[in-house]
Amino acid sequence: MRILLAPMEGVVDYEMRALLTQIGGYDRCVTEFVRVTDQLLPNRVFLRFNPELEQGGTTPSGVPVYLQLLGGSAKYMGINAARAQKLEPPGIDINFGCPSKTVNKSDGGSVLLKEPHRIGDIVKSVRDSVDPAIPVTAKIRLGFSHHDFLAEVAGNIEEAGASEVCIHARTKEDGYKPPAYWSAVKQVSEQSSIPVIINGEIWTVADAHRARAESGCSDIMLGRSALTRPDLAAAIKADNNADSRFVWRSWPEVLEILIHYLERSESQHPKFVSNRSKQWLVFLQRAYPEAATLFQNIKRLKESEDVFNALSASLKQLA
Ligand SMILES: Cc1cc2nc3c(=O)[nH]c(=O)nc-3n(C[C@H](O)[C@H](O)[C@H](O)COP(=O)(O)O)c2cc1C
Repeated sequence: MRILLAPMEGVVDYEMRALLTQIGGYDRCVTEFVRVTDQLLPNRVFLRFNPELEQGGTTPSGVPVYLQLLGGSAKYMGINAARAQKLEPPGIDINFGCPSKTVNKSDGGSVLLKEPHRIGDIVKSVRDSVDPAIPVTAKIRLGFSHHDFLAEVAGNIEEAGASEVCIHARTKEDGYKPPAYWSAVKQVSEQSSIPVIINGEIWTVADAHRARAESGCSDIMLGRSALTRPDLAAAIKADNNADSRFVWRSWPEVLEILIHYLERSESQHPKFVSNRSKQWLVFLQRAYPEAATLFQNIKRLKESEDVFNALSASLKQLA
């Protein structure tokens, strides 16, 4: 079983990938998406989204990071992939799942699920533009508003030469509302000759079991739960290996991880620390009640220094 860390725009950045892969359990990451329209992007754009390209394409712990491209023009997706491959990413992932209105309006993301042949064209263009040794993968949802095209979309992706497809088991219209329909992926995973990865609503070790059983997929991708329990991937791997030595991180340990992330990201824009600390605490609330209390304490703070002081004071109290 492999576990992939899901791409999450505005959440899973370079530092987050470094931190979560250091905690362990992940076999691969994906960058935030690089938006491709009708231009050839300069290298600095790829490097901004994927700083790992300057260190062999992996996180500091050695986990490969695929570059994520999003766009509706087969031609420009191919041209940009051809340029990006010169930076030697370990793989290129194509986003066909983004539900954002802005992105969908400009012909990118999940809106393409309405046109299965275009998905095939885009994957083929990217596949044909890069060295055969570089895997090209795709991430889709079950469909836009229904599942009727799922088999065709998945078939076109495979035929176009993709190495793998990850399926977020909801439609665009489902958004992020539970449940995820893992069993809706079963037919595709049985028919496909490339690996199919199941994604959506895997919050616990038990969910991972059920998602794999119901979808027929061996590999899983974790999104929001990776933030809710930073050691979930490690727990799932330990369970899979029948390794009884695994112990969940305590709240003080998790709080330390949060502070560490913010410290490493301090060179970002001035609101970064205040925004991201609140964002992560909201994710953590689901697993740690202490995170809810801490969120209440810091929710009005804007300055980085004030946030750091509040988090450190909370950690000291726990010692
Ligand atoms: C804040 C946020 C940003 C996301 N950004 C991306 C993205 O850039 N590309 C993508 O393919 N999916 C993106 N997704 C979808 C996730 O990769 C994943 O498919 C989704 O969250 C379902 O998995 P989960 O239930 O484990 O969170 C994003 C999701 C969230 C919540």
